[in-house]
Amino acid sequence: MPYPEIRPRRLRRNAAVRRLVSETRLDPAELVVPMFVKEGLTEPRQIASLPGVLQHSRDSLRKAAVEAVQAGVGGIMLFGVPAERDATGSGGLDPNGILNVAIRDVVAEVGDATVVMSDLCLDEFTSHGHCGLLTPDGGVDNDATLRAYAEMAVAQAAAGVHMVGPSGMMDGQVGVVRRALDAAGHQDVAVLAYAVKYASAFYGPFRDAVESALEGDRRTYQQDPANLRESLREVELDVAEGADLVMVKPALPYLDVVSAVRAAVDVPVAAYQVSGEYAMVEAAAANGWIDRERVILETLTSIRRAGAQIILTYWAVEAAQLLRQRY
Ligand code: PBG
Repeated sequence: MPYPEIRPRRLRRNAAVRRLVSETRLDPAELVVPMFVKEGLTEPRQIASLPGVLQHSRDSLRKAAVEAVQAGVGGIMLFGVPAERDATGSGGLDPNGILNVAIRDVVAEVGDATVVMSDLCLDEFTSHGHCGLLTPDGGVDNDATLRAYAEMAVAQAAAGVHMVGPSGMMDGQVGVVRRALDAAGHQDVAVLAYAVKYASAFYGPFRDAVESALEGDRRTYQQDPANLRESLREVELDVAEGADLVMVKPALPYLDVVSAVRAAVDVPVAAYQVSGEYAMVEAAAANGWIDRERVILETLTSIRRAGAQIILTYWAVEAAQLLRQRY
């Protein structure tokens, strides 16, 4: 009898067989590109710790949005960088604040050709860099913050956003945002809940991108990286409060969480490949230590395989273009 009898290598023999049996495929339609727009900029600016990602001007943002649509990405997640900040983050609630202006610009430019999403959080707009309003002793005031989120959600919906992404990890935020949207007649605006968000050091470059000078850390509201069961509770609560989709963040260091969340709920699951994940790969590639394009597609495939149906990634436009060339 020939040995070995069973040869798994037969299914890896050439590209055609491998393609036939591939269990996970990436599609540009499930990639979402985060974009930053800074108030008052006339020219886009590079972000040192996120090579290849820009702080956009209003003009360059519109052009980048069109390019993203042409590449076939499923969505654009907008972040605003205001010129001025204050203790209450009032620029986030102001209909003429940079994020709301950018939503109007992008929706006017691309209409329904992709899903326009916005970060619903105060940290980009507060002088102290926290995701909410502070109590006199410096803690983050959950319920006062909820009132601000409700107003912010309605302002974003009025600006035309298709989906809001509450990301501040305040208890009850999804329910409050859902009720506020409905009460203002925005029943069609969906809630992409950052249901699971860890207090992660992988957000470092993002803070450069939004020029946040965070005082202290976010460990009283973002989750402890040691915990998995806590994430299932967060997801369950958000779905009960009306989340249309749930997200896990960061992605690659938390694939076990992505997988558990996928098994626990029946709403679409997204994962956010965050700034630090991007920066690590770019830095290694710049040194010639890894094959950049292969690593990008491998990380995205792994996140998809773990159970995320949608991936937010700074490589979305490039990955969409790469995928078109390959298939
Ligand atoms: C909060 C927000 C953050 C990120 C997305 N939304 C920062 C934070 O929670 O500290 C990080 C994304 C990234 O690192 O790419 N507005």
